[in-house]
Order: sequence, then structure tokens, then C-alpha cells
Amino acid sequence: MNALDRQAAWNSVLTAHPGDLDHAALSVEGTIPDALRGGRYLLNGPGWMKIGERMVHPFDGHGYLRAVRFDDAGGASLRARFVRTPAYVAEAREGRVVHRGLATNPSESWWANWRAPGPRNVANTTVVPWAGALLCGWEGGRPHALDPATLETRGEADFHGGLPPGAFLAHMRADPPGTPDRHLVGLSIGMSRHTTLTFREFDTAGRAVATRAATVPSVLLAHDFVMTPRWYVLAGNTLGIKIGAFLAASVGAGTLLEAVQPAPGAPGTLLLVPRGRPGDVRVVTVDRPLFAVHLANAFDDGDDLVVDLCAFETFRFGSEFGYQGPHAPLTLTPADPPGPERLGRVRVAAGRDTAAWTELFPLGTDFPRVSAHHEGRDAPALYVAARSATDHGDPFDRVVRVDLRGGPATLWHAPPGYVVGEPVFAPGPDGADGDGWVLVMLYDGAGERAELAIFESGRVEAGPVARVHLPLLPYGFHGEWEPVATG
Ligand SMILES: [Fe+2]
Repeated sequence: MNALDRQAAWNSVLTAHPGDLDHAALSVEGTIPDALRGGRYLLNGPGWMKIGERMVHPFDGHGYLRAVRFDDAGGASLRARFVRTPAYVAEAREGRVVHRGLATNPSESWWANWRAPGPRNVANTTVVPWAGALLCGWEGGRPHALDPATLETRGEADFHGGLPPGAFLAHMRADPPGTPDRHLVGLSIGMSRHTTLTFREFDTAGRAVATRAATVPSVLLAHDFVMTPRWYVLAGNTLGIKIGAFLAASVGAGTLLEAVQPAPGAPGTLLLVPRGRPGDVRVVTVDRPLFAVHLANAFDDGDDLVVDLCAFETFRFGSEFGYQGPHAPLTLTPADPPGPERLGRVRVAAGRDTAAWTELFPLGTDFPRVSAHHEGRDAPALYVAARSATDHGDPFDRVVRVDLRGGPATLWHAPPGYVVGEPVFAPGPDGADGDGWVLVMLYDGAGERAELAIFESGRVEAGPVARVHLPLLPYGFHGEWEPVATG
């Protein structure tokens, strides 16, 4: 496939807009494993990007929740719904961009942009089943709660009054299933010259049961964090603010994403905030620059802490997914100009403020996941999407199992032209300790179709054991496995 065809396929995948869907009987190739029957794969991501005459940045596309359910007989069904946020409702009614976004303005006129409503909480990034709702997370505001059965939007989740309005990360973390007193944890961010981090813990009924606040003396980008029983961990991604661009954004003559950049020369750091106990924030300097978007996992090893994460050496904001503005197609290149994203491990020894980075896999990677049963624990393996290209930013085309017990990484290479999404782990019948299954969306932009591919977790290289055929769905961000479907 040549570069122009690849770009066309990429645009087809990103801008697919099939709308709300119900398919009662999907075509299944192979056999749905018994352990998955009765469960449900959930995926969130932007589902409407070409709105009227304008292409919005993928970060600003409307949240579109997809649910593929496996029945007891081995069949599969699909339900997909837009999250009915205020921005979605307004733009579906008017057929144009109405709300200002993180990286998108409604108009060429700064005056019109300045007067446009916001924030553009499009609930498009994550999905977390919790306390009788599907929580669709977004960067910068509260998640939206959807009915688990109908996928109807109930509105912003306030956790029985325990979560005030304001900036809240899309990524949330939960203790492993079966943990006594299991909690869901989210992070509120307050930024001025400092950054205030407020970790909030919610019980299984969705009630706020603990908060932990910490202040960091810099402005930082936080998109994700990990936690263990003893620590919350995030990357210290120090941001520089471009004052002129920031002022322009504030009056509608630019966007917030254009106004930030990694602080030049800032060292790579991890921030360790004690969880469930008193203590100061620890700032650990890593021996390489580190700008991390997604963290994979962390665990306590005695008094040491081990953190696995994907990190760039630096980052350039605004051109994510090849975005070139409201009147241009997405491009494949250039991407990752400062250097590709890598998966690595950092071991923080007790009492030390420095640590070394060890690369875990030699290709560009993102979307690292472990089994939910191993979150915060020493996982035997993690799964990532990777790209074979090293000189340009093709979409991901490989599914990788990275063995964390010293064995070789194994991988599967998708057919030419296919785009690989985030690998989501589903446990086998042994639950916490056994192997299981890895569910990955594959997008065929040129063929106008998609598949949910199911891999045996210990034999990713053998290719999918089953494929659920789907219409072309737009590229998803983050998914979740629900072992017993609540809808
Ligand atoms: Fe993310």
C-alpha cells in the first residue's frame, strides 16, 4: 500500500461516522472462547470529527461508546451510542461546531470563538463500568454516566455529590477485582503557577471515601497515572506555557493545545504521592528525558517501587493523529518528530531520588495494558500496540505481548493497511493468575470495515482465534472488558 492510500485509509478510519448502531447478530469467524461468553467489550473514542465544514481535532470529537456483547451461544452483538453531552446535543441540532475545544475552534473569527460556549466536554476518552453506570471520561471535566443496558446518557457523574465540577482526568484506576474494599480512583487537577493534584477514591457504591491532595511546584501535563496499595504515580511532564499563544487562545484566536509545550531541558521525573498514609511527595529524577502520556502499571517490590510506562523524550502538541487543522485531511507524516514513544521500566529504590530507565521493547508503542487483576501488582506480561515504521508516524500495525518475567516479546503483524487499536485483556477461567484473551480492534479503512480480534494472550504471534466482523467504526481510544455484561 503506498503512502497516499495509507493516508486515505487513515482518514477513513478516523472520520468514520456511522452514528448510533444496533446489530443483533454479527458475523463471527472462529469460536468465541467460553470464558468470554456473557461478557462485553467496551470502547470509547471520538465518533464524529467532520462536523459541518470543519474537521475537529480527534481530542475534540464527540464521545462514541461501542459495546460488543458475547452471548452464551458464542454469538456477538453490537450497540453503539453517542454520549449526549451538551456539546453533542448542540452540534447535532445545528450541524456545525458550536463549542470551543482543547484544539479546535468553531470559527475563523476570534470574536465568534470568544463568544462560543465551553468547555467542550465530549466524554470521548475512556469507559469505566462502576457503581451501576458506564463512566465515559474526558480530559478536563467530570465523566458522563451512561445507563449500562441502554447506553443512554444520564449526565455528568458527581458521585453522590463527592466530585465537584472542574478538571478531572479521563483516566481512572481501580484496585484489582476481588480486592476487599475495592476503590476507583480519579484525579482532579488544578493549575496556576503550581499544580494541585487531588486524588479521589470512590467505593463500589460510588461514594467518595478518601481524598489526598498534593502540590507540585510546576505546571505539568497529566493524562494518566498508576497506583499501588502504597503509592499514586504519575510522570512529572513539566509544561512550558507560550504566553502569547496562551493569550491568543484565551480570546479565541488560538487553542489551548497550541499554547503548551514540554519545558525545554526539564529532566524526566516521576512523582510519587503516598496513598492511604501520610508523607511528602517524592520527585524521582530518571536518567533520560521523559514525557509520558500513558503509564502501564506499577507495583511495590518490598520497599522499592517498579513503574512501567510509555514515554517520549519530548513532545509536540497539536498534530496528534496527523491533525492539520479544520480544513485539511489528517496526514501520516510527520509524526513523533522528536523521536518515537518507547515502553520502559523504572525501578525506584527505597529512599532514592534517582532511577534508571530500562527499555522494554524497541519499537514505537502506546496503549499499554495489563490484566485488571494485575493493576498495582507484579504482572507477568503487558500488552501494547506498536508500529513497525521507525522513520515516520504510521498508525499502529502490531499487537505485542511484552513478557515481564524475562521471556522474549512476541508480536503479531496486522495485514497491510490495517490499523491496530488498544489491546484489552480479558481473563481466562483461571481469573487472576492464568492466561486469558486479548481483544483488539482492527480497522480496515480501505475496505470500509473493522473487526474485533481475539487473541490467546500467551500466543499473540499465532494471530486471532476469533474475529467479530463489524462495520467500519471510528478509531477508538480506550476500552474495557466487562466479564459479566451489565447491559
Ligand atoms: Fe489516554
